[in-house]
Amino acid sequence: MEYALTQEAPDQLATECLIVAIHENRGLSEAATALDRLLGGEIAAIVQRGDIEGKPGQTLPLLRAVGRAERVLLVGMGVAGACKPAQYKEAVTRAAQAASELHVKTMASFLPMIEVKDRSPAWALEQAVVATEDALYRFDRLKTRANARPLPQSCQFGTAGALGSDANEALSAGRAIARAITLAKDLANLPGNMCTPSYLAEQAQALGARGGLEVNVIEEAEMQTLGMGALLAVARGTHEAAKLIVLQYRGNGSAPPLALVGKGVTFDSGGISLKPPANMDEMKFDMCGAATVLAVIQAAAEMKLPLNLVGIIPTTENLPGGSAIKPGDIVTSLSGQTIEILNTDAEGRLILCDALTYAERFKPAAVIDIATLTGACVIALGGQAGGLLGNDETLTRELEQAGQTAADRVWPLPLWEEYQKQLDSNFADMANIGGREAGTITAACFLSRFADKYPWAHLDIAGIAYKGGKEKGATGRPIPLLVEFLRRRAKPA
Ligand code: BES
Ligand code: MN
Ligand code: ZN
Repeated sequence: MEYALTQEAPDQLATECLIVAIHENRGLSEAATALDRLLGGEIAAIVQRGDIEGKPGQTLPLLRAVGRAERVLLVGMGVAGACKPAQYKEAVTRAAQAASELHVKTMASFLPMIEVKDRSPAWALEQAVVATEDALYRFDRLKTRANARPLPQSCQFGTAGALGSDANEALSAGRAIARAITLAKDLANLPGNMCTPSYLAEQAQALGARGGLEVNVIEEAEMQTLGMGALLAVARGTHEAAKLIVLQYRGNGSAPPLALVGKGVTFDSGGISLKPPANMDEMKFDMCGAATVLAVIQAAAEMKLPLNLVGIIPTTENLPGGSAIKPGDIVTSLSGQTIEILNTDAEGRLILCDALTYAERFKPAAVIDIATLTGACVIALGGQAGGLLGNDETLTRELEQAGQTAADRVWPLPLWEEYQKQLDSNFADMANIGGREAGTITAACFLSRFADKYPWAHLDIAGIAYKGGKEKGATGRPIPLLVEFLRRRAKPA
């Protein structure tokens, strides 16, 4: 979809679908008022009758020409001046869906003119692009019959006059974030037989070529030489070759980089500790951390952020092949610490721990790992917030606040010393599981033992990276959070 700004007034604009806001206190937005004048009070009458109450996300199409627009879509935006960021996002999403149901090819939206509580007009414009692209996303490339309903091709936005030249910047940022989300969704929605570790490595190389990044792919033989016994242990159960993908974006000379480490299990069967069959297909999404890292680096490069980034992606399948690791097996990680594998389904931490040790060589300013790591996190926080843990309060606060601003939230869990003893093993330095209690925390405790050389944060995205059921598919979270975090790091307050 093409996004552009328009200076045209709503009652002057030629489009197939004009989108304007209605407020809950029976008020018309500025744009709706302009159209109402053209219609001799018809919109005010519709609102007065209560055909649309103005609740955030309500939509009502007017299937008639108004000015130079072929039709109008009224969209509820809540009480004027009190629209919350999440409500705004929801309203933009619903508007885009409703417009696409009207089969239009072009649309023009004046929703970004609305005042959003605690947010700038630039935020509203950026979010309008991100939420519209998100709403219109489809993954249908593997369907052989073309979808009868083509998607809208272009969207113009009318913005608050005060934005001035910042509007172009907000639009480009919105596009970069939207494209990143689409990239991550495409990678994650692709099934496990297509999105293999080799495929991810190829995609990383392609991204490097597009964006002028340095990309290195470490193969199993080299992992062996380096001593990545934990990552290699998981890879034993499958014929697919594991990869360690390393990407570098340089936007700030020789400054210490931020490192992003993404879990790239392209299918998690559980291994010998096999998962139950129900919904096991969703374990193709177990590489969403990897997809997030690729996408965020793409966005940072497109936005030319003045900072240095390293992306580290350990990627493998977790299958129960004849050579697979077994419960009780003990392996030596890259750090030299030994691990007793009591459950082969706790594989994410095994591949991540070697990647975290590998990150040390970049002398990073901070390391953030992103992983669909525990079912326990889905139980604790559901689909609203990701889990946030780490060894540095400044870093975890920054991430929490960036998520707040981006409407892509994470929520802290404690990483107290007392939890560490759940990982005690009789036979090795540690076990790879910590029992039923506090599963998200003990997983992070495990990782913390490999992340003690730098400020580190862990995002458990098992509950937010994808949806199941009727809406099954990747969400692109937590890309908005991470881009916001990077932007703040790029220009310190
Ligand atoms: N990939 C899963 C975590 C997961 C579960 C993500 C559900 C999304 C939805 C991870 O590898 C895993 O299997 N974790 C185990 C850990 C347990 C064996 C300690 C889990 O959460 O059950
Ligand atoms: Mn698992
Ligand atoms: Zn997993």
